[in-house]
Amino acid sequence: MAQGSFYVTTPIFYINDVPHIGHAYSEVAADFLARWHRAVGDDTWSLTGTDEHGEKILRSAQAAGLPPQEWADNLVETAWKPLLDAINISNDDFIRTTEERHEDGVRRFIQRLYDRGYIYFGEFGGYYCVSCEEYKNEPDLIKNDDGDLLCAIHKRPAEYLSEENYFFKLSEFTQPLLDLYASNPNFVSPDSRRNEVISFVKQGLQDLSISRNSFDWGVKIPWDESHIVYVWVDALINYITAIGWGVDDQNFSRRWPATHIVGKDILRFHAVIWPAMLMAAGIEVPKQVFGHGWLLVGGEKMSKSSGTGVSPVELTAAYGVDAFRYYFLKAVVFGADGNFSLEDIEARYNAELANGFGNLASRVHAMAVKYFEGKVPEASAKGEAEKVVSTLIQDAVSGAHKQVEAIDITGALNKLWTIVDGLNHYLTEQEPWHLAKDPANADRLATVIRTSLEGLRVLAVALSPVIPETSEKLWVALGAVESIGALSVQNLLEAANGELPTGSALGTLPVLFPRIDNKD
Ligand code: MSP
Repeated sequence: MAQGSFYVTTPIFYINDVPHIGHAYSEVAADFLARWHRAVGDDTWSLTGTDEHGEKILRSAQAAGLPPQEWADNLVETAWKPLLDAINISNDDFIRTTEERHEDGVRRFIQRLYDRGYIYFGEFGGYYCVSCEEYKNEPDLIKNDDGDLLCAIHKRPAEYLSEENYFFKLSEFTQPLLDLYASNPNFVSPDSRRNEVISFVKQGLQDLSISRNSFDWGVKIPWDESHIVYVWVDALINYITAIGWGVDDQNFSRRWPATHIVGKDILRFHAVIWPAMLMAAGIEVPKQVFGHGWLLVGGEKMSKSSGTGVSPVELTAAYGVDAFRYYFLKAVVFGADGNFSLEDIEARYNAELANGFGNLASRVHAMAVKYFEGKVPEASAKGEAEKVVSTLIQDAVSGAHKQVEAIDITGALNKLWTIVDGLNHYLTEQEPWHLAKDPANADRLATVIRTSLEGLRVLAVALSPVIPETSEKLWVALGAVESIGALSVQNLLEAANGELPTGSALGTLPVLFPRIDNKD
């Protein structure tokens, strides 16, 4: 049984605009991991929040004619926090980089790097993409027909900036970082991203400009208040200010190091700059940085700026929050890029959720009601088929757990889905509706229904990290008196060994996933 500390983070989101499903994707994945780890008894903490300083946010606020703080307060309350409710995120904390607990930590952190000799004053010029908030190297730029240099991600002109700034001696960390990747092969995952990061670092790192003085929307550099801290350096530090670094040592050492879930576009910040900053400050590096892929629309990264941003709230309203969570985690292999379309969502919804899972639950429940007056029957005639089901369930749950530990979320869901398919197959073979026709088969009938109900019980528990609302409904329908939350304390991994009490009364089961073509 796993029992350790698990601290998972999402990127903190830019609040220059409202969220789209690409943002929701990072959230749902981290939430799945957090819920799973809680359910296996790990001391879990999940953090999300908003990245509110910097030029990009300042420009959005100015365009709207609002002071940046007012703009930020407004978007956090009207768009970002409601997103978390809409997709049922169970975060333990929400950090905003404009909070004093964070700004204070940023000042202490940056002062520490300065005191340790890792920061100097110098001059720098380069192409800057405001949408990425990043200086771009040659390979990250493309030329348009007019010869302008564009950011390869945003396809927007990169601006040439030349500044006198404070610099972080990132170049000193080329070898220590390569050593870190070599000694901890899972530090950057999945493997494809690890290789990308290693070959980038092998080219040698340049020092990083970490302050700005052309605008003042940010945290002031403590020893020179005419400069503010570069927004990315400010933002990365959230992962430690949120858990009380330097303020609450006990909590910090209970939580740190973290597992960071990030999109591949921001992997270098997390897998290169952030560990180097931590090494310079003498703080342990993160446990792992996982770079997931992009949700694509027509082969391109879905984004608000390209006009392809799809609102998570619209999708959850159409298909339900659980179907939303399930679809993106199962249909897009976690770690890879994936196209999605409404047709694909609907096809999978009908095939896997409505027909595969929902129909299984309603058939089993209806037969228990019809043949056993809605009470859990005893399984007194277990045979070979029941052994097969039980082995399948044990393997699926323990296999899924291994995959979750390796952050193979899609693999874990596929594994759990073998229980759905296995139970459907078992029912087709055992034909309880035929057994019911002859009283001589009463024991076998009871055994088949009981075995199927037990399978549903395991599914209710094991699928709760991905479809929490549905799991709760199923759990209640199985006659469970305690909520699934209470059950998860008992441990998801042990669910396969638990049992429904014989003779206990089932509750009612609503249609879990109404078929889409049955909707109005
Ligand atoms: N503010 C920074 C992160 C700072 S973390 C210290 C940032 N914010 S963001 O709002 O632009 O992006 C947040 C996350 O959304 C990133 O992980 C990004 O990869 C993800 N996505 C944005 N568009 C996406 C897709 N189309 N598909 C999948 N995820 C993508 O970057």
